[in-house]
Amino acid sequence: MRASVKPAPLSPPPGSAPASLAGASARPLSAVDNDASPAGPTGLARKSRSRRIIAVGGGKGGIGKSMVSANLGVALAQAGHKVLLVDADLGGANLHTCLGVGPPESTLSDFLRRGKANLEEVMVATGVPGLSLIAGAQDSLDAANLKYAQKQKLLRTLLAQTADYLILDLGAGTSFNTLDFFLLADHGLLVVLPEPTSVENAYRFVKAAFFRKLQQVESQYGIQDLVEGALSTREGGLRTLHDVVAQVRRKAPSDAERLERELASFRVRLVVNQARTDADAKVGAAMVAAWKKFFGIDMDDLGALRYDDEAWRAVRKRRPVLIERPDSPVSLGLQRIAARLLSLDGLSSESAIP
Ligand SMILES: Nc1ncnc2c1ncn2[C@@H]1O[C@H](COP(=O)(O)OP(=O)(O)O)[C@@H](O)[C@H]1O
Ligand SMILES: [Mg+2]
Repeated sequence: MRASVKPAPLSPPPGSAPASLAGASARPLSAVDNDASPAGPTGLARKSRSRRIIAVGGGKGGIGKSMVSANLGVALAQAGHKVLLVDADLGGANLHTCLGVGPPESTLSDFLRRGKANLEEVMVATGVPGLSLIAGAQDSLDAANLKYAQKQKLLRTLLAQTADYLILDLGAGTSFNTLDFFLLADHGLLVVLPEPTSVENAYRFVKAAFFRKLQQVESQYGIQDLVEGALSTREGGLRTLHDVVAQVRRKAPSDAERLERELASFRVRLVVNQARTDADAKVGAAMVAAWKKFFGIDMDDLGALRYDDEAWRAVRKRRPVLIERPDSPVSLGLQRIAARLLSLDGLSSESAIP
């Protein structure tokens, strides 16, 4: 195996304040996110609905988030679903290029800043039937300066969309804005390369998302003191999900079960990209086992994508590899991941796609 999969401790560094939760951005919560509420997207609790949101995140850039987003969009649209791709990489938007869409006339920025009321006004066709795109901001709007009200507007509007699938291509890193989009999703896909540095970044991302999730639910359960106390414990008292729930049970037994269900809904789905060996392809399964063992957190391994020259060739041609080379190893892997997502949603059987 190429990558070490043993995660670093979940607890944040001693004395760190919850606002700069382990591995999350070191910026103070209020300074740049303008997010007065640590609970993040207030009033945006997920409801049961038929439309699914897939968010594609990862600890760093250049690991294939946009490649995965664009091609999963193509695969799901080809499977007959109405798909809306959203380039939410606010600092480095380039999803339109992966799809061969020219410099976009209108972007997310027009919606966020120039008073366009409907997302429909900034949607563009991609040439793939059933797949539309909201191109990313081409100006200086980035995740770091997205205002709280803008984020709320975007989150609410996304939740109101009627497409069968919304796919959010996220920027690299663990800013609160990025994490809030990740946590909004039904399927939080985490792209990771089978290299120790990327695995490390992935763990940092999961830690940051986990603590952001805790922040979102803590006020709901009146456990702010408890969570913040646990997070700043020198000995790192908060090691596993079970530890959090056990502490809540001691304080408020009736809330513990509800909290357990809530935290269990935080489930990251791993996509190992650029696997060159069979051992690489198993890194996802090893990471899932390590997280379960060390932190009691469930993750899913959606499968690996092969390193494939066709992947970068397709990007240079500005065409999704799934359309350019549908039989290439990376395309077959992307089809398998799309099939797994559809199967998780009860929409089709995995056996339908090789
Ligand atoms: N499976 C793969 N095999 C070979 N090259 C890949 C693969 N996935 C991605 N790449 C290359 O990595 C580059 C960066 O991918 P991209 O999706 O833009 O990353 P991100 O969105 O994470 O920054 C692509 O342009 C492509 O050249
Ligand atoms: Mg990208």
